[in-house]
Amino acid sequence: MSDSYSQKTAALTALANHAQLAQQWQLPGLFAQDTQRFRRFSLEAAGLFLDYSKNHIDVTTIPLLVELARCCDLEKRRNAMFGGEPVNITEQRPALHTLLRAPAEQRFELHGEVLSDQVQHVLERMDRLSQRVRSGDWLGFTGKAITDVVNIGIGGSDLGPAMACAALRPYIQQGLRLHFLSNVDGHAVDAVLADLSPETTLFVVASKSFTTQETLINAQVARAWFLSKGHTNDLAKHFVAVSTNAQAVAEFGIDTENMLPFWDWVGGRYSVWSAIGLSVAIAIGMKNFRTFLSGAHAMDLHFLECPLEQNMPVLLGLLGWWYRQYFNSTSHLIAPYHEDLRLFPLHLQQVDMESNGKRVTISGALVDSPTAPVIWGSTGTNGQHAYFQMLHQGTDLVPVDFIAAATPAHDRTHQHHALLANCFAQAEALMMGHQADERPGHEGEALPPFRVLPGNRPSNMLLMDKLAPETLGSLLALYEHKAFVQGVLWDINSFDQWGVERGKTLAARILPELEGKTSSHSHDGSTAGLITRILQKKH
Ligand code: F6P
Repeated sequence: MSDSYSQKTAALTALANHAQLAQQWQLPGLFAQDTQRFRRFSLEAAGLFLDYSKNHIDVTTIPLLVELARCCDLEKRRNAMFGGEPVNITEQRPALHTLLRAPAEQRFELHGEVLSDQVQHVLERMDRLSQRVRSGDWLGFTGKAITDVVNIGIGGSDLGPAMACAALRPYIQQGLRLHFLSNVDGHAVDAVLADLSPETTLFVVASKSFTTQETLINAQVARAWFLSKGHTNDLAKHFVAVSTNAQAVAEFGIDTENMLPFWDWVGGRYSVWSAIGLSVAIAIGMKNFRTFLSGAHAMDLHFLECPLEQNMPVLLGLLGWWYRQYFNSTSHLIAPYHEDLRLFPLHLQQVDMESNGKRVTISGALVDSPTAPVIWGSTGTNGQHAYFQMLHQGTDLVPVDFIAAATPAHDRTHQHHALLANCFAQAEALMMGHQADERPGHEGEALPPFRVLPGNRPSNMLLMDKLAPETLGSLLALYEHKAFVQGVLWDINSFDQWGVERGKTLAARILPELEGKTSSHSHDGSTAGLITRILQKKH
């Protein structure tokens, strides 16, 4: 048995013993014992404040968790990622999204190529292109300026840009409208094109591979819609692409002069920092986009340089692991109390579950513990009137990350205070529960069982001063690194997504069958029955 194996086994045994105690703790009691608990279990980094005091931890928990992280070589593996080693081992690629947000003067060379220069070159091209659209210099085929930008992409080529445009709504240039077309469902393209004019619309076809079925079908529909008014010669004025696959872009009919490249070392779910962020840059301007990058870089530096015990992504990763491992929590709620962050939980679903929804380790063995929980969520206060009942009185423990801004982008102070009051109230109610009557004349009386909230339910509170390009960058980088930390603890490759591929292959097989172009392949009885039913409906 190797030293590192026995050290990890010892760290896990110590944690398992500690968890047996922690499972008995009551959070209100922990606060009563330690008046410094809020100060002790909170920290500030890269414009974000994290209060993690409402967790099932005491002063010994974090050192024990950090010991496990060290035994898993977290620091070495983090440095390998930043250093450009092929950490995505099944595809033999680095995962260098952090390089996309590094300062221009930070030179980075890999295998004789100065990647940092390539990154800066593409940022300059984004700058020029976005500026031409924003200034009205980019003219459509009838000489009119662009008013509407449609990003056609899916997964990482959609979620990140759509989330960032929603989050940075107050920064979007007046008169510019951004649209996101992702689903292959024809209702989606109908809804997007309904109010648009081909004369003033610019399509950004965003696809790392440029082979994704949904994106190519939507782009073909958009092209046909455009050609109903414009000419083939005018396509270059209305279609640009962002991809790593210049050949496929050219074959599709987009001039590669109008293509912004990126690289195979940028994973789809981490690509908003690359030229995939073009629609964001057009919306908010390149200066703000660069600030978004520098916010993420500030979090990168914190992740790289801060001791693990005070390292925000490390702490979030360890806490999530703690609940998954010892508290049987199968899901994790992201609850932004900020309407402009409504797409943030959706983006995090891909960041987290596509990264860590894995069942084998890097060496190919089956993992021996549960991996990625279900990530879900939506904005508060709306969620309070939908699923929060289950958080308070259901049978499952669901750790929650509340996210809020101290200062809003509007001046309706009373509304903002009401929002924050609800946010803090939910976290307090989850932890404190409700056992005794408070009604005048009944104070202290036991509540009937159906009114009891058991409490003792954990949450984190993430506060930023204001939702702005810099804080959004830092917030997103925080969660990217949290997913990385957990991937290291589970010893899995967080950078591939082979599970998604099978569905793509089968859909490509079934499509011609539904169109009567090929006869049925052998399918299971249910799939064959469903295909036949659709074919019969057509006759
Ligand atoms: O969902 C699978 C996936 O490969 C994602 O990782 C990626 O973000 C998405 O599809 C879109 O891929 P592409 O940018 O190549 O069209």
